[in-house]
Amino acid sequence: MLKNSLNVTVLPSSNIIQVGQKRQTAELIEKFYTKNPFPNYENFEGINDIENKLKKHQFSLSFKKSVGFGKKIIEVGSGTCQLSIALAVRTNNEIVAFDATLESLQLGSAFADKHGVDNCCFVNGDLISDPFIENYFDVVWCSGVLHHTENAEKGFKIIVKWLKLDGYVIIGLYNLYGRMRTVFRQMLYKSLGKGSIGKFLVFLLDPELRKRKSKTRKEAWFKDQYENPVESLHTADEVLRWFDENGIEFISSVPSCHTDSIDYENIFSKKNRGNIFTRFLSQIFMLFAPLDEGGLFLMIGKKTH
Ligand SMILES: C[S@@+](CC[C@H](N)C(=O)[O-])C[C@H]1O[C@@H](n2cnc3c(N)ncnc32)[C@H](O)[C@@H]1O
Repeated sequence: MLKNSLNVTVLPSSNIIQVGQKRQTAELIEKFYTKNPFPNYENFEGINDIENKLKKHQFSLSFKKSVGFGKKIIEVGSGTCQLSIALAVRTNNEIVAFDATLESLQLGSAFADKHGVDNCCFVNGDLISDPFIENYFDVVWCSGVLHHTENAEKGFKIIVKWLKLDGYVIIGLYNLYGRMRTVFRQMLYKSLGKGSIGKFLVFLLDPELRKRKSKTRKEAWFKDQYENPVESLHTADEVLRWFDENGIEFISSVPSCHTDSIDYENIFSKKNRGNIFTRFLSQIFMLFAPLDEGGLFLMIGKKTH
């Protein structure tokens, strides 16, 4: 699955494969997440905890139920790999957890090893160095990642090459409109000199921080959202253009691009892509969701050529 032309090393203690060279932005990001691996494992004692977390996330749960068996799936920017491991357990799917931050993969690999998950492999590298061969994966899942790269569109073009014909890509990005509440809190924190008063206010105002129970996971979320060195914002229309220009057919999205409600039971069935007005409205409505996941929106596409 890896290109022959790149340097490949297997780290003996953990079986993590390291591939290619990291560019400057990926190195900066690795340095940041090495100190703050995301989303981290505190309060995760066993596979049950991983599966319970999956059950709380309607989209991921529905994905696991719908994707079937015998599939090759890559999670690009897997962080500490909870999702990759959750997708691997009780299936014969081959999962690749791929991330620029070695520290995060080490946490994931140690957890998988401890709990006997052997159908997930761990690869460390920079997605921009394009380390995988073309037309290999049935699913490319990349959520919360491209907006931390030097150029999200360039990253998108690379990762969809790894997808087989008829394969699915799932992209999660910070939304220009949906992230306004977080942007406001970021400005508040910065304008108060990034000190303890600002941090206190952010902890009070951010619903995702209030939801998290473990101190390590609260801190991981805080750093990820308020101190990240690389971040960009995107719209549904922009991603639709990327789809159109790269042979990807729009399938569905969260929030919906049209006026219909989200059909979590059939995430792979084709939905209406709406129009500029319905898409704008649904992105604005993200601002009124009780929990906003930092204003993340998901788009699913299918490779047609
Ligand atoms: C916010 S975390 C998201 C983790 C996981 N996808 C989730 O949603 O919980 C972003 C992850 O993307 C990884 N990442 C950022 N740029 C990358 C790149 N160029 N290549 C591979 N991984 C990258 C980081 O190392 C980090 O673990």
